[in-house]
Amino acid sequence: MKIIRDVNEMKIEINSIKRYGKTIGFVPTMGYLHDGHKSLIDTARKENDIVVVSIFVNPVQFGPNEDFEKYPRDEERDFKICRESGCDIVFLPVKDDMYKSSHSTFVDVFNISEGLCGLSRPGHFRGVATVVAKLFNIVKADRAYFGQKDAQQLAIIKKMTLDLNMDTEVIGCPIIREADGLAMSSRNIYLNCYERQQALTLSKSLMHAQSRIKNGEKHVSIIKLEMEEIIKTAQDSKIDYIEVVDPQNLKPVHIIEGEVLIALAVRIGNTRLIDNLTISI
Ligand code: PAF
Repeated sequence: MKIIRDVNEMKIEINSIKRYGKTIGFVPTMGYLHDGHKSLIDTARKENDIVVVSIFVNPVQFGPNEDFEKYPRDEERDFKICRESGCDIVFLPVKDDMYKSSHSTFVDVFNISEGLCGLSRPGHFRGVATVVAKLFNIVKADRAYFGQKDAQQLAIIKKMTLDLNMDTEVIGCPIIREADGLAMSSRNIYLNCYERQQALTLSKSLMHAQSRIKNGEKHVSIIKLEMEEIIKTAQDSKIDYIEVVDPQNLKPVHIIEGEVLIALAVRIGNTRLIDNLTISI
């Protein structure tokens, strides 16, 4: 497994892979890998000749009061996971190489960036779209793999590649959960034992919504209220949003018909967690 930190070296490596006509599967990450990332790498491994994983804690997608500094980092652990998953190249660019002091180009994907997490994290998706566009230009992958847990991020990246005629196919992969239902996330490490228990209310509320919808409830207002009640049983919870939206354009729906995305963001103590579920009736 090659470890490359320099952007130009990475581009040279990619050009030589392309010259041999090999396909590239790409998994962009911010590191501190877990089984969710592993499943993305596994899928990339099955569908491509060469697998590239990037690890870059992108400063541009963090707000001024967010956790950029304390975001968990552990290169050696990540390398081990990448190696065991059959990754060929780990790309770890450094901040000053990705963003020169003169950097002045950003990618804004309007409309779908504005609701859900966009409301409480202004500028976040601009940072995500910008870094993903840059990484796509460097890695020139045939396919890139993203987790469905970040449903809004996935929808934004799909829209960006469509709007900007990018060649990389964006593939969404299922959410990977702990045995008790908690969606895997690098940020779960912030939760203490007691908060970890309270965090289960997120997936429980989604499961409840799923069963209510399957049993015929169509009114979003009722579903949201019941989900809210479940989450409020967690003493340290603070709901950022619970929304039921169209999975393509992320616009709110009021009556459930066809396919809907139920998405939520909740603070448990100081940790902001997100989760979602797609349901079709
Ligand atoms: O989902 C993430 O880990 C990040 O937002 C991404 C896509 C790697 C961009 O920094």
